[in-house]
Amino acid sequence: MKAREKQLLLENMKAELSALKRSPLYRYRVENNYLPVVGEGSVSANVMFIGEAPGRNEAKTGRPFCGSAGKILDELLDSIKMERGDVYVTNIVKDRPPKNRDPLPEEIKVYGPFLDKQIELIQPKVIATLGRYSMKYILEKFGLHGELRPIGEMHGKFLEADAPYGKIKIAILYHPCVAIYNRKKLPGLKKDMKIINKTCPPKFSQ
Ligand code: URA
Repeated sequence: MKAREKQLLLENMKAELSALKRSPLYRYRVENNYLPVVGEGSVSANVMFIGEAPGRNEAKTGRPFCGSAGKILDELLDSIKMERGDVYVTNIVKDRPPKNRDPLPEEIKVYGPFLDKQIELIQPKVIATLGRYSMKYILEKFGLHGELRPIGEMHGKFLEADAPYGKIKIAILYHPCVAIYNRKKLPGLKKDMKIINKTCPPKFSQ
């Protein structure tokens, strides 16, 4: 599929999300004048990063990882000589949960199919999960629930999986927010980030 077609389908997805009254987060979004956050980056990227859910800045702008967690993500990308335009960045949950609480199972259930569609469209060769929710969702989606361990044991590793469009690698990373209040965590996150280079050749987007 051509990049333009993918972009159009993702724009349609934004419209669908905007009108998603069955979402438990719909009313909160409308009351706060927030936007759904679909994703951003290259639709031809080989690497897709998947976070948890938008925070306040993201819901205000409709852009993923544009607040403090986003600054850390940019630093991590920079550490492996990549930038946002080389990758695609999204979340499991597309609307902001109140007070940035953890996503609820019913929210993951409502928004998961949108993420599935994004994976189907973009067909990334590497899926990098950011945090435990995204790790769990992706491992279960690709039939790897048996491999699931606490993220403290999984981070910095990658697993191989079969996607309908071919073999892929799943890179397990901590969520960048772990370094927001504790910069000492940053070197560890950068070390883990190197698995992206190991799982994928250096120039990614077409
Ligand atoms: N945290 C996330 O998981 N996603 C964002 O887009 C921002 C913060």
